[in-house]
Amino acid sequence: MSFTNKVVIVTGASSGIGEGTALLFAKEGANLVIIGRNDVKLTVVAARCEEYGKKPLKIIADVSKEDQAVSIIDQTINKFGKIDVLINNAGILRLGKIIDGTIMSIYDDLMNTNLRSVIHLTTIATPYLIKSKGNIINISSAGGVKATRNPLFLAYAMTKNSLNIFGQGVAIELAPYGVRVNTISPGPVYSDVWKNSNISQSEAMKDYEYKTALNRISKPEEIANLALYLAGDNAIGITGSNYLIDNGFTLMN
Ligand SMILES: NC(=O)c1ccc[n+]([C@@H]2O[C@H](COP(=O)([O-])OP(=O)(O)OC[C@H]3O[C@@H](n4cnc5c(N)ncnc54)[C@H](OP(=O)(O)O)[C@@H]3O)[C@@H](O)[C@H]2O)c1
Repeated sequence: MSFTNKVVIVTGASSGIGEGTALLFAKEGANLVIIGRNDVKLTVVAARCEEYGKKPLKIIADVSKEDQAVSIIDQTINKFGKIDVLINNAGILRLGKIIDGTIMSIYDDLMNTNLRSVIHLTTIATPYLIKSKGNIINISSAGGVKATRNPLFLAYAMTKNSLNIFGQGVAIELAPYGVRVNTISPGPVYSDVWKNSNISQSEAMKDYEYKTALNRISKPEEIANLALYLAGDNAIGITGSNYLIDNGFTLMN
């Protein structure tokens, strides 16, 4: 078990990629801190993590609220005394356009959740990551590589594109302190992301056919395995990198 005695925070662990990531780190013996707003879903994930032997610290919190983010770090330090890995995974998909003005109603929520909260959590976790010579993994999106053909995704793409630059910049700033920072950019993954969105998938995609070169959609475990590798000692030489794991989505769109 490669993460025994490591303290790992996973935001957005109540479903999808975050859930898969929490379960994998639990299997590897980590002391886990799992974050989400949905108590029912997060409780189920906590119970599944505990089956691997350790009870995770479950924190119901909205990462976009500054006081709640501070409380995440405080509770983690109170319980475990350190932070080794911060996985900034919590995120939302909101769709809107310029032409009908709907982009304005989704922009603040998207930026606050997908970008500002990551900047804030990174800031307040950094003193502890410097102490542990730990690392950060940000979950971005293949949709953040460039503006997509479907205009509804513009604001979402902007949050993820900025997150990519943020990851590079923090990697530069923290490298002298021995802290690594990497980004993962998944393509389509089975999760609750559309269920939690403001528009249904069929409505949002009705004029667009999206393909992956491999003609498949990833399971959360696939993203979790990459996160596990990047967070571990075998990735000692990797920082400032951004890994596409998209079944060839970017090649085709
Ligand atoms: N699925 C995909 O196809 C795909 C592709 C590329 C990138 N991604 C990215 O992967 C990440 C995970 O998404 P997912 O696909 O696994 O979707 P998901 O199943 O909807 O999971 C999103 C998670 O984020 C949490 N979350 C959202 N806003 C939050 C907030 N303000 N405070 C705390 N937790 C919050 C949700 O928890 P609560 O609802 O309990 O708050 C949930 O656990 C996101 O950053 C997303 O942009 C997903």
